[in-house]
Amino acid sequence: MAGFTVWFTGLSGSGKSTVAGLVGPMLEERGGAVEYLDGDVVRTHLSKGLGFSKEDRDTNVERIGWVAGRFTRHGAWTLVSAISPYAATREAARAMVEEHGPFIEVHVHASVEACAERDVKGLYAKAFAGEIPEFTGVSDPYEAPESPEVVVSTESESPEQSAARVVAALEERGLLTGGR
Ligand code: ADX
Repeated sequence: MAGFTVWFTGLSGSGKSTVAGLVGPMLEERGGAVEYLDGDVVRTHLSKGLGFSKEDRDTNVERIGWVAGRFTRHGAWTLVSAISPYAATREAARAMVEEHGPFIEVHVHASVEACAERDVKGLYAKAFAGEIPEFTGVSDPYEAPESPEVVVSTESESPEQSAARVVAALEERGLLTGGR
């Protein structure tokens, strides 16, 4: 089975993990060996101890990129969800993956205002109150992708619609053949 990586980038609370969590079972139905690399989860082990300085985020994203490359090499359909705010570091991750298979960048778009309104984890309220320094989109940069393979807007479509569009994009590229 030919592996690939779908890389979901976007603000905290934009819906990256939610959409990836819907895409995963759809890919499993197609026979894919699906693996997830979620920033919040990776930060509990592989990147434990890293913070949110540019240097630490870059290290986190490079680690995820390296692991995604290994998974891709072994045929996994790999779903990464991490803010990954810096374009150059996402490109470094892309290069690591593309040594082994396709890299599909998905910009999960939602404005800071929309993410703050949802504030699923209560972090935006704290960030706006100045309690979390270097919070992406509030007091730290987010470099939106200039030419991602896919853009989904979780403000104007449901997570199910976003997931369906991602799967359709993979289908169009002929990536969903050769599942188990
Ligand atoms: S990344 O920038 O290194 O790609 P990652 O996706 O792993 O970030 O982790 C982001 C998650 O960490 C957010 O969803 C949020 O729950 C939490 N978090 C804690 N502090 C911050 C911060 N300063 N900026 C952004 N996210 C933060």
